[in-house]
Amino acid sequence: MKAVVIYGSPRQKKSASYHVGDNFARGLKRAGVQVEEIMLIKHKIKHCLGCYTCWTKTPGKCIQRDDMDVILPKVMEADLIVIATPLYIFQATGLVKDFLDRIIPMAEPYLVELDGTTTHPMRGTTKRRKIFLISVAGFPERSHFDGLVLSFKRFAGPKGYVGDILIPASEMMSKDGFQREYTELYKDIEQAGFEVAKNGAISEETKKAIVEKTTYTEEQVSKFRHVANKYWKSLQPKEYSQVQLSEVDAVPLKMSDKGMGAFFAGMATMYNPNAILGLKAVVQFNLDDDSFHLIINETECQAYEGAHEEPTTTIISPANVWMDVSMGKLDGAQSLMKGLYKVEGDMTILMKMNKIFRRK
Ligand SMILES: Cc1cc2nc3c(=O)[nH]c(=O)nc-3n(C[C@H](O)[C@H](O)[C@H](O)COP(=O)(O)O)c2cc1C
Repeated sequence: MKAVVIYGSPRQKKSASYHVGDNFARGLKRAGVQVEEIMLIKHKIKHCLGCYTCWTKTPGKCIQRDDMDVILPKVMEADLIVIATPLYIFQATGLVKDFLDRIIPMAEPYLVELDGTTTHPMRGTTKRRKIFLISVAGFPERSHFDGLVLSFKRFAGPKGYVGDILIPASEMMSKDGFQREYTELYKDIEQAGFEVAKNGAISEETKKAIVEKTTYTEEQVSKFRHVANKYWKSLQPKEYSQVQLSEVDAVPLKMSDKGMGAFFAGMATMYNPNAILGLKAVVQFNLDDDSFHLIINETECQAYEGAHEEPTTTIISPANVWMDVSMGKLDGAQSLMKGLYKVEGDMTILMKMNKIFRRK
C-alpha cells in the first residue's frame, strides 16, 4: 500500500497539523505502508487556470510547468491520500485548495454514476483512492469542522472517505514548548494511522480516545476563551490607549470611607492627568490580605476596593511598607531593590508614580 500525506499549513513543521499528520504517518509506516510526505508550502504550485487543456488537447497533462509535475505522479500512485490542514475560514488552507484544483488531470472529463451520484472517472485506473482528513482549528468547538468534513466527504465520494482526526483548540499544539502535553494524544494518533493501514478505518476505541482528549465541556470552552484572550492580550503592543478598562459596577471609594478605602480615595484625588497624556491603566495594590485598585481613564481616576481582572501594574506589599513609601518615609526605589515590596506588570507606572499622583 502507498500513501501520500499532504501538509497544508504554511507554518511547515512548527504547526499543529504537521504534528498530527506526522504521528499518523508514523502509524502508517509501522503497518508497512510506503509513505510520501509533501509539504505544500515548499513547492511551487500555480493556480488552476480552468482551461481544461488537461481534459482536451493534452489529456492528463496540465499546460503549466511547476512542482505538480513531480507531485501528481506520486498522488496518482497512492492508494491513500491524507490531507493535513489547519482550518482557515472554515475550510482547508489556500495551499491545499490550489493543490486539489491541480489534481483534475487525474480525472477524465466524462460524467459517470458512482455510488448513486455523478462523478468523473479516474484516468487510466479503476483504483478507488481513499481519502483521510486531518484538521486542526483555533476554536474549541468540534462543530467548526462541519463544512470542511462535508466538502471532503463529497470530494472522496461515499466510499472513499475513510475517516478523520479533527483537533479543536489546537493553537498550543504548534508550539515546541507544549509538545510534552500531547504525548498521549500523539500515541493515539499514531495508532489511528496503524489501524487505517491495517483495517481501512480507525477502531472505535482509538476514535473514542482521540475524541475524549479533544472535546471540551461548555465550562472548559468558556475557560478556554478566557485563557486564549489573556494569551492574545499579552502579545499586543503595550499602548496605554489600548488598555481595556472593564465595566465597574462597584461604587468608587470616597475620602469619607474608613481605613485604607479613604487612603486610596485620597490617592485618586491626587491624580495628575498631565503626567502621561492619554493614560489608561489599572494600578492595583495587593496589601496584606486586601486589594485595592485605581482605574485611570485619561483625565479621570477612581479608586475601588478589591482586585481587578487585568491590572496594568500590581504592587504587592505589606500594608505598612506601602504606607511608609507613599508618605515618603521609605524610598520607593530602594525598598523595591531590597525586596520590601514587589511589582508585576508595567514598571513605567511605578517609576512615574510621583508624577502621576501629586500632592496638590
Ligand atoms: C487565515 C486564518 C484563518 C483561520 N480560520 C479559522 C477558522 O475559521 N476557525 C478556527 O477555528 N480557526 C481558524 N484559524 C486558526 C487556525 O486553525 C489555528 O491557529 C491552527 O491551530 C493552526 O494550525 P497549524 O499550526 O497547523 O497551522 C485561522 C487561522 C488563520 C491564520
